[in-house]
Amino acid sequence: MSTKTWRIGLIGFGNVGQGFVRILANKRDILKNRYGFEFKLVGIADPIKGSVYDPDGLDPKTLIKLIDEKGNIKDYPKGRKDIDSLTICRSDDIDIVVEVTPTNIKTGEPGLTHIREALKNKKHVVTSNKGPIALAYRELKELAVKNGVMLRFEGVVLSGTPSINLVLESMAGVDVSKVEGIVNGTTNFILTKMEEGLTYEDALKEAQRLGYAEADPTADVEGWDAAIKTVIIANVLMGGSITINDVEREGITKITREDVRRALNNRKRIKLIARVVREGDSIKASVKPEEVDLNHPLANVMGAINALTFYTDHLGPVTIIGPGAGRIETGQAILSDILAIHRYIMGGRY
Ligand code: HSE
Repeated sequence: MSTKTWRIGLIGFGNVGQGFVRILANKRDILKNRYGFEFKLVGIADPIKGSVYDPDGLDPKTLIKLIDEKGNIKDYPKGRKDIDSLTICRSDDIDIVVEVTPTNIKTGEPGLTHIREALKNKKHVVTSNKGPIALAYRELKELAVKNGVMLRFEGVVLSGTPSINLVLESMAGVDVSKVEGIVNGTTNFILTKMEEGLTYEDALKEAQRLGYAEADPTADVEGWDAAIKTVIIANVLMGGSITINDVEREGITKITREDVRRALNNRKRIKLIARVVREGDSIKASVKPEEVDLNHPLANVMGAINALTFYTDHLGPVTIIGPGAGRIETGQAILSDILAIHRYIMGGRY
């Protein structure tokens, strides 16, 4: 099998970046043997965890050991430490930029600048950063096309569970008239744990420990994260052009353990339901807690598991259920996008 070595630069070494590097540390041989995919992770830039650049490639196992033992990579034994995120975007030595800084739903920054800069410098970009895709999808897509590179972002919705590429690639050609489901892992986890007897605060802490929550978890519990995902679904998968201000939004902060128990006594569960509906030429999006009957499929989607039903013309409803958040789970989204770039560049063959 012919192989290709990809030079990867990573911007952001939080939950997702670490999950991705953990996968790289475990799967090097499998990726080479199964897909002819070889890699050198040449640089990482993170203002808190540390930055390092080595053209010979950083060792993923050493990086993970440092993170596990020290919480940062500042003592990585080789390479230059005087680099920043823009060095990665502009380096001639990098083919693929992985942008996994925290989502900023107002400005998209710093991710938006990173992605623009990397595309302008003819790097393929893989991201799980929701801000830039929600705010500037069309501009970024055009920039990628203009520069002859790919922009992929499976991880922005349902982490590594196929959703974006499921529609864009596996179901290419369908029209999607409605999408409905649970798109935030943290809130679904909190609601599940409250049913099991945990307080809201303890459940949120546990969601943060497990790497589900956003850097500022207000984004999850107030429904902003789910809302931004509805914007992405509307604009990327349904041809819309809505903004977060168009989304009717309510979070779960007002829901008590008593509400959860009362619903259950009535054979219902409270779920934060996201919905995007095409009505003629316009698209309506909402995120709000709803009581669903226990025999409804979404009622039994528990913990950080998410679910989406796509209502399509050729296939009718298509439902996908799987992890919605998590370090390895979102790292998998990054990996699948990188392997897709590899597959395209290798002419569609592994
Ligand atoms: N904070 C998000 C969630 C992460 O809980 O779903 C995945 O987008």
